[in-house]
Amino acid sequence: MMNKVTVIGAGNVGATCANVLAEYDVCKEVVLLDIKEGIAEGKALDIWQTSAIKGFNTRVTGVTNDYSKTAGSGIVVITSGMPRKPGMSRDDLISTNAKIVKIVTENVVKHSPDAIIIIVANPLDVMSYASFKTSKKESSKVFGMAGVLDTARYRAFLANELNVSPIDIQALLMGGHGDTMVPLPRYTTVAGIPVTELIDADKLDAIVTRTKKGGGELVALMGTSAWYAPGAAAAQMCKSIITDDNRIFPVCSLLKGEYGINDIYLGVPVMLGKNGIEKIIEVNLNEDESKLLKDSAAAVKGVMDVLDDMNII
Ligand code: NAI
Ligand code: 2OP
Repeated sequence: MMNKVTVIGAGNVGATCANVLAEYDVCKEVVLLDIKEGIAEGKALDIWQTSAIKGFNTRVTGVTNDYSKTAGSGIVVITSGMPRKPGMSRDDLISTNAKIVKIVTENVVKHSPDAIIIIVANPLDVMSYASFKTSKKESSKVFGMAGVLDTARYRAFLANELNVSPIDIQALLMGGHGDTMVPLPRYTTVAGIPVTELIDADKLDAIVTRTKKGGGELVALMGTSAWYAPGAAAAQMCKSIITDDNRIFPVCSLLKGEYGINDIYLGVPVMLGKNGIEKIIEVNLNEDESKLLKDSAAAVKGVMDVLDDMNII
């Protein structure tokens, strides 16, 4: 059992992640940290007060910007960052969130030098790069959550369409977290049956398109971005690391030649275990899939270059 996991940012996603992780009951303590006075303490206390009802032992504590309380964490999840607001340019968001990710990562490295860092803040692929650059850690210990969420959305849509359990749907989705993400119907099965045998091509296309715009659909409905599925997705990644299950998830990882792509953070299937990314898995892609992945990599690289040009990190 891991001693401590810290979640930075006690907003919608961070608090949900802490809540789901506590319910898994796989670590002794979850620490929530936020800069807003009292919010992390309050949400942690509220989550802890569900322990007797739900039946878990993981202590949940909260702290206002005091990293000494996070010391010795085995995993730190970074959700601190603004969602994009009306009138905010993409570059504004990059600079605002990169500054937050930088200062948070510096504090994490100082107080928990051995921690595995999971980034959630957007723009996800580039914030993962920002944390990696700041931390000076191995890339197997700094990676981002997006693919678990995007795949979960895809599986949920397919489960509705086919009227089957979402648990039976296995799927792979690669690329950046955004419009250029690459769902892979060829690698989607329902209890081992290729999905293409069960659904018309046009319906599958519509689901793929809906998945790509899945984040935007929720923003349009709620006026802010989603949190239940994103928080649960980050918690599931933590669990696989803590229990050393070597589960395979799409994770935003630094590629060093895999898929013919170098020095770009991009969603690819990886094995997650006690050392973080134990292995990046290279699946065969056909020409069309490969082109989509390269296009996605180019889009992410463009934003990485914008960050580099800002000289923040
Ligand atoms: P939120 O606004 O509810 O929470 C963010 C929290 O971070 C706030 O409580 C804020 O006080 C805190 N914070 C800001 N600066 C901080 C600092 N320096 N240190 C500690 N805490 C700080 O936002 P929400 O909905 O939780 O989203 C968080 C981030 O996650 C956003 O950037 C959002 O775009 C991103 N996101 C990413 C997803 C993904 O798939 N990777 C999915 C959903 C959201
Ligand atoms: C999402 O996909 C906005 O990244 C956020 O819900």
